Amino acid sequence: MKIAILGDIHGNIEALRTAYDAAVSNNVEKIYHLGDLGGYAPFVNEVVDFLIEHQIEGVQGNYDDAVANGKEHCGCKYEDPVQAEMATMSFEWTKGHATQKSKDYMKCLPFDIEFSVHDKKVKIFHATPLKNNLYWHNDRDEDFFLHMARKADADIMIYGHTHIPYRKNIGNKVFINAGSVGKPKDGDARTCACIADITPDNVKTEFLRIPYDVEKVASAIIESGIPSYFAERLRQGK
Ligand SMILES: [Fe+2]
Repeated sequence: MKIAILGDIHGNIEALRTAYDAAVSNNVEKIYHLGDLGGYAPFVNEVVDFLIEHQIEGVQGNYDDAVANGKEHCGCKYEDPVQAEMATMSFEWTKGHATQKSKDYMKCLPFDIEFSVHDKKVKIFHATPLKNNLYWHNDRDEDFFLHMARKADADIMIYGHTHIPYRKNIGNKVFINAGSVGKPKDGDARTCACIADITPDNVKTEFLRIPYDVEKVASAIIESGIPSYFAERLRQGK
């Protein structure tokens, strides 16, 4: 079974359209999203409408939970005080501009999605099986990965939140961080669509990196009133 996973879209409709088209051209059977639909770029409502229109199932991210439930903080971690201030402005902007329809959609997203393929249990969630705002980077030690696999009670785990893609195998467990469609942080500004092909004896993973009109979205960020800081970060893939 070949599936596509679209991680952290963050209000970036141009990147979403591009990643979706790439997934469709790869003849996937099903497309999932990993939540975090708004913030940092202005198209949160367009993103929600696109996911509904194309029947893309997905899970709730920490950002969705915070926007939909009017929380004070998005639950993200910041590298410095400037980033914290900018991110707070972007979060307030998103809470103020997301429609009730978008908030209702985000509120109803499940914490995780589980299914079986060839006797392997697949689990999809935003960040970790227990908490949706914990950063699960590739350099966590093996014990952490195996602990998470036990908590997930799954063979193949697919998640995002860090915006940096990776694939790792430990024993017969497969860990896939799908990266981010709309706000990559690995220094590559192109969008990212993760393709996972699950066969009876293997899981093949591909991270498709596709160029899109970053400048169009950067201009829209500046015009919207979201700090121009995020336009620059988008251009840099940070
Ligand atoms: Fe995110």
